[in-house]
Amino acid sequence: MSDTVRIGVVGLGRLGRRHAENLARRIAGATLVAAASPVAEERAWAERALNGVATYAGLTELLRHPDLDAVWLVTPTSLHADQVIEAVEAGKHVFCEKPLALDPADCDRAIAAAAGRPEQIVMVGFMRRFDPAYAEAKRLIDEGALGDIVAIRCVSEDPIDPDGFFVRFAPTSGGVFLDCCIHDIDLVRWMLDGVGFSAVAAVGSRIVTPALADCGDVDTASACVAFAGGTIADFYVTRTSHRGYEAAMTIVGSKATLEVGRAIPKLPLTLEQAGRRSVAGQGDFFERFGEAFLLEARAFVAAVRNGGPTPLGLGDAREATRLACAMRAALKVG
Ligand code: NAI
Repeated sequence: MSDTVRIGVVGLGRLGRRHAENLARRIAGATLVAAASPVAEERAWAERALNGVATYAGLTELLRHPDLDAVWLVTPTSLHADQVIEAVEAGKHVFCEKPLALDPADCDRAIAAAAGRPEQIVMVGFMRRFDPAYAEAKRLIDEGALGDIVAIRCVSEDPIDPDGFFVRFAPTSGGVFLDCCIHDIDLVRWMLDGVGFSAVAAVGSRIVTPALADCGDVDTASACVAFAGGTIADFYVTRTSHRGYEAAMTIVGSKATLEVGRAIPKLPLTLEQAGRRSVAGQGDFFERFGEAFLLEARAFVAAVRNGGPTPLGLGDAREATRLACAMRAALKVG
């Protein structure tokens, strides 16, 4: 391998374009050499915007690009497991967006493929772990500043979506727990050092987006999880926020309470309506976690150049999928 990691990005949609721009310009030690999408318009964008990278219609074609070291998957989640396996078997290092797969069995297939090629790096994109605020929260927990963790309350809000993006996106996403809540699931498991869970309850609704019924998804959901050791965690997730994007977490310990990401209003009263934001939002997910996406990419490139280790393991990605599937099952049976 050359000293520079030569990367091909696959998927040039909402997030793939952002990753591609980062990899093309902002990651020392990496260079973007190829991009793939089945959509001609997206390939034309890549040719214009990414310094003339080679473009391909899909992963299989991109894997034939000469001198390619790593593949960066930002494709629909339903494709992840098979694409991870195809890229690993082609001898490439792989970055895969979250979640690793839509069920634990598919995660296991991808993990088995990676285990057969230990010299190749395979990493899943739980970028919130790289966010300086969540990373500091983890550091404070590990040094004992909060004491025993009693409860964690997570909020993930996507802006209300009048254009119907989520209705088109939902069928391949696994639903709101696997797609959106998965970030908080991974963070909570990380904060709790990967402890297992013992009980899950969940409810959900689609008052704003009834069309999600076609794929069994909801636009707003809440899950409550009991973890071994006694910590309980609440996960609230919605696609109907009037204040824009928000990710927040309250961690209640026996010695102290920590807030991550909450905009605290001057008065304890706010009215929030689209176009009349009375609480400063956090921009979109890319604005809120822009630095985390860069740090995540740098961590992957460093792992490839140094021969490992990766900062987060595939076993964690599997367990995040398993808990999200348990939430979805709890929602289904009520
Ligand atoms: P999107 O629907 O906007 O983009 C998907 C892209 O994949 C499109 O470029 C599409 O043309 C391409 N594609 C579809 N089928 C393909 C195939 N067979 N081969 C190659 N490319 C194909 O979706 P979005 O929002 O960009 O999400 C993509 C992935 O990124 C998902 O797994 C999602 O969970 C993840 N994601 C992660 C976020 C984070 O916070 N880390 C935020 C948003 C998405």
